[in-house]
Amino acid sequence: STDARELLVTTDEGVESFSPDQLRAMRDEFQRFLLEYQFGLREVETKLGILRDEFLQMHDYNPIEHVSSRVKTADSLVEKVIRKGVEPNFDAIRGAITDIAGIRVTTSFSKDAYRLFDLLTAQDDITVRAVKDYIAEPKENGYKSLHVIVEVPVFLSTGRVDVAVEVQFRTIAMDFWASLEHKIYYKYDGAVPDGLLAELREAAQVATTLDLRMEALHDQVRALPRDEEADAAREVTADKARTLLEALQRYNTGGGPTLDAG
Ligand code: GTP
Ligand code: MG
Repeated sequence: STDARELLVTTDEGVESFSPDQLRAMRDEFQRFLLEYQFGLREVETKLGILRDEFLQMHDYNPIEHVSSRVKTADSLVEKVIRKGVEPNFDAIRGAITDIAGIRVTTSFSKDAYRLFDLLTAQDDITVRAVKDYIAEPKENGYKSLHVIVEVPVFLSTGRVDVAVEVQFRTIAMDFWASLEHKIYYKYDGAVPDGLLAELREAAQVATTLDLRMEALHDQVRALPRDEEADAAREVTADKARTLLEALQRYNTGGGPTLDAG
């Protein structure tokens, strides 16, 4: 006889039952499993944030339009495990499902997508597991994006774990196209009518043309000589900075407390 509160699970070996304590332990283990991916996301997000801030400081220009991230929901993870026929244990899932943690980096220009990809993957605590360059080789439907699965170390109280994170780099135009295509795909449950597919391919072409033109325009503007007004404004700022620096130095060598005074 079975306790009414016990859950029955049908497996290949027959029917198994779990006590509430066992169920609670399973839930905790699952939550901990997902938490590792949350930490992996944070590590990679921090890296991207540092690259953005440093780039902005050095070049007066932000290569990243925006960054979004998500950990797969338990539901969609379970669905994928079943769909891909992965063995239902954590090690097998870790190995087979590499998009549990996902980050999307949207850039203005495709050269920035590649530059950020290079800078991230060159870091020596990052291991590259797989790369798919759908920018160089777009998918049949017109989809473009640069995908990489990286592994990043996360340090827990129990030691180091290497967490897989999928990073997608794409331009604003590619992102615009992909979100629309995604909506259409779901609306038609995968069976998109031929006419719409053709229109999507055409729209992808237009997006590519837009990217090329905007990038060329951006290059032209950067090659222009600085305009005089901006130069004058820059000189005023430099003058102010010099005056401030001199005042600080006078203060430091004069009667005031010095910076290293205790
Ligand atoms: P999944 O099992 O779906 O993750 O695909 P995959 O293992 O073959 O990997 P791939 O690198 O091709 O795709 C990974 C992710 O890229 C997907 O989960 C989507 O977020 C995105 N993606 C890939 N192809 C398309 C596409 O045709 N349209 C859109 N909108 N997104 C796509
Ligand atoms: Mg995926």
